[in-house]
Amino acid sequence: MLKASDNELLTRVGAATPMGELLRRYWVPALPSADLAGPLGAPRRLSVMGQQLVAFRGEDGLVGVLAERCAHRCASLYFGRNEVGGLRCIYHGWKYDRSGQCVEQPTEPSTSGFKDKIKIPAYPVAERAGIIWIYLGPPADQPDFPQLEWLVVPPENVFCSVRLQQTNFVQAIEGGIDSSHVSVLHQDARRWRGEAPTPDWDRLFDDSAPQLDLEPTDYGMAIGACRRSGADRYWRVTQWVMPWYTLVPRDGDRPINAHAWVPLDDTHTWTWSISYHPDRPLTRDEIEAYRSGAGIHAEEIPGSHVPVRNKGNDYLMDRLLQRVGFFSGIEGIPNQDAAVQESMGEIVDRSAEHLGTSDAAIVVFRRRLLRAATALRERGEPPPGLDPLTHRIRSASAVLGADASWVEATAALRRAGDHLYRTS
Ligand SMILES: [Fe+2]
Repeated sequence: MLKASDNELLTRVGAATPMGELLRRYWVPALPSADLAGPLGAPRRLSVMGQQLVAFRGEDGLVGVLAERCAHRCASLYFGRNEVGGLRCIYHGWKYDRSGQCVEQPTEPSTSGFKDKIKIPAYPVAERAGIIWIYLGPPADQPDFPQLEWLVVPPENVFCSVRLQQTNFVQAIEGGIDSSHVSVLHQDARRWRGEAPTPDWDRLFDDSAPQLDLEPTDYGMAIGACRRSGADRYWRVTQWVMPWYTLVPRDGDRPINAHAWVPLDDTHTWTWSISYHPDRPLTRDEIEAYRSGAGIHAEEIPGSHVPVRNKGNDYLMDRLLQRVGFFSGIEGIPNQDAAVQESMGEIVDRSAEHLGTSDAAIVVFRRRLLRAATALRERGEPPPGLDPLTHRIRSASAVLGADASWVEATAALRRAGDHLYRTS
């Protein structure tokens, strides 16, 4: 459990809050590249950590991200015209370039020089892995770009989707690092889709009460979850990379699944779901399956990032199937997660919890996030996990002898492919 004041500290992400200040020190995955049509296409609204922004792609294909409101009378630039040289407000025609500088004011005398004094906030942008990234923190503190493995594999090796979740981001991450719920909530996830089980998947159900062993790291934490598997031990190692990245333990040689849980505001999260293979392109079948809601990806209402199975329709829960053996009655891993996490309330009251031994990773995760936010606010301590060299990791799973050390035995498995980082 967590006292109310710590829960506030942990979950509030506005610009003036300690957690908001911490999170703004990291690059933010903000919008799928595909959502921003080609050069001079329609602008998009964009909300991250409670900030209202507008994104647009200029005539050269590069993306600009500005505060949403025109400096003149505060109309939304989302309705703006995306023109050569910038975005023009349709109210009085004020036009802004990608740096936020006002470059035209057709309703003002051209000799006044007023436009030169007008600049709206603009943010650094990068485009990687089919995602538009932004940096919202102090310019002097802009970090190097992350080097997670899914960001450096060839583009044909990676598939990303994003879905909207109606909870605070901490609640969402806590699901991502919670190994024990997989053996319960998700137990029929593959059967729903008629997918064949794999040896690793089957091992999840040999033992539903994993013992956790945590390894704090420079980048965050490696979470070892140990299940009995006959005389051996089945270890699943989930990775948490500051502040919002998680890597799901790998299942054999299948693509690796990863997430980024990014706050839209205090009560909504952009759940980025990434599947990638370090050594080969994804197959057409794999991509089509992801698009239709396989694995960690959700089937979405076309034109939105709202899952088809959502809070408004009780996730299309099928009580008959639940009764005849499909445990949760809800199809799809992300929909099962959203159902339980959204049911906890937008910001769960952590003073009402009763945590068990299987929640050890969640306890340490909260403590580290709280400590990082407090240390930055009170002592100006640099946030952890900003060194891209520490991001070159993988999740892992392995069957080990009963006495083996998972930290040593999985060390090589937990390293990302060196070849992916060789610069030409
Ligand atoms: Fe889950």
